[in-house]
Amino acid sequence: MALSHAENVRMTKVGPGTPAGELLRRYWMPIAPAEELSGEQPTKFVRLLGENLVLFRDTTGRVGLLGDQCPHRCASLLYGRVEERGISCPYHGWLFDTYGNILETPPERNQAIVRSVKHTAYPLQKYVGLYWAYLGPGPVPVLPRYDTLARRDGRRRIVIHPRLDCNWLQAMENSVDPAHLQILHQEFIGRGGRQPASTTRGFTDDVASTDFYLTSYGIMKRRVYADGRGREEHPLIFPYILRQGLSTQFRVPMDDTHTYHIHVIFEPTPDGGPIDDDEGPPVEYLAPYKDPPDALHPEARFDMRSVICQDHMAWETQGPIADRTNEHLSYSDRGVAMLRRMLRENIDRVEQGLDPLGVIRDPALAEVDTGVSESIVTEVAWMRQRGIPDAAGRV
Ligand code: FES
Ligand SMILES: [Fe+2]
Repeated sequence: MALSHAENVRMTKVGPGTPAGELLRRYWMPIAPAEELSGEQPTKFVRLLGENLVLFRDTTGRVGLLGDQCPHRCASLLYGRVEERGISCPYHGWLFDTYGNILETPPERNQAIVRSVKHTAYPLQKYVGLYWAYLGPGPVPVLPRYDTLARRDGRRRIVIHPRLDCNWLQAMENSVDPAHLQILHQEFIGRGGRQPASTTRGFTDDVASTDFYLTSYGIMKRRVYADGRGREEHPLIFPYILRQGLSTQFRVPMDDTHTYHIHVIFEPTPDGGPIDDDEGPPVEYLAPYKDPPDALHPEARFDMRSVICQDHMAWETQGPIADRTNEHLSYSDRGVAMLRRMLRENIDRVEQGLDPLGVIRDPALAEVDTGVSESIVTEVAWMRQRGIPDAAGRV
C-alpha cells in the first residue's frame, strides 16, 4: 500500500523537531575527512540534518563544530579567524571556544552576554580519519566501532562520492532492494562477459532467493545464487549505513534533499596479519556522476559508467523526496517495507523518550560485529578468480 503524504513526511524530513530528524539525531555521523582542516584552511562549512555549521580547528589543535551564524548579528563563522582560544567572528570579533562559550565580545566586554549566551556547539570525535558529529540530546552515546572500521588486519581508504541531490531514505531503501542489482547493474555483473538473454530480466535468474532478517543493529539482506556461487549477506546498519562487502557506505543527511555520500573501504592484509593504520586512511574524491553536476533530473544527464553512477541515477530520479503516495509496492519490495516499519517503530521510540535501535550507551559494547569476516572470504576469492591483485600486489 502506498504511503500517505503525512507518513512520507514523517519518515523523510531531517530538520530539528521533525520525527525522522529527531531519530537521526540519536546517531553519530561522519561529517568530513580530518585532513580537510589544515593550518591554511582551518574552517569548513558543514550542512548536517538541516543545520548550517562550521567545523574549525584552533591553533592549539582543538576542533569544534559550531552554528554557522554568529549569535551577535549572524555573520558566518566560516570566515572567522582561528586563534589559541578558539574562533573569532570575522565581523566584530566575538570569540568562541569549541564548546560554544563566548570568551570575548569586542569592542566592549559585555559580561551579561558572556554569562548568559552560549552558541550552538556539538560534540565531535575523530575516528578512522574522519570527524564525527552528534547533534542529539545528552547524554551522548558511544560512537560504534563497526568491525570494518575497527579491525586491525587491514587498511582502510575513504572515498567521497559526489553529493547526492535527494533525500537520504531513497539510498537506504535501495540497500534493502536486492532485486535491482541484476537489472539496473546488468552491464557490470555478467561474469565472464555473459550477456543476459533479456535486458528486462537482466541476470535475475542467477538468483535463487533473497530474504531479510533482523539483527541487533538493523536488517541483514541475503541473496543466494542459483549456480552454486553461494550466498551474499549485506547488512543495513540502521538508520543510515549500508555495508556492502568490504565497503561501509554512509548516507549522511545534509538536509531534506541532499545527502553526503561517503564510503570507507576495508582492504584486508593477504595473510590476515595486523597492521598499524593509525595515520588515517587516504582520501579520494570522485568526479561528478552527472552533467551539469549541480543540476537535477531532467536537466542533468547521468553518466552510467559504473554501478554507483547507476545507483545515483535511480535515487535522484525518484525525486528530491520520492513521493511515496504514488508507489505500487510488490513482493520483491518486502525489504523496503521492513525498513519502513523499522523506521516508524524507532521514530515512535524516540517520541516516547526511548533509545532507538543501534544506539550504544555502554563503552564495553562499542565494537559491533556486522559479519564482515564472511565478506572478506567471499571478496578475496572473487579477486583471486579475476586475477585482481591484493593489497600486497599478489594475485
Ligand atoms: S556578527 Fe559576529 S561579532 Fe558581530
Ligand atoms: Fe545498486
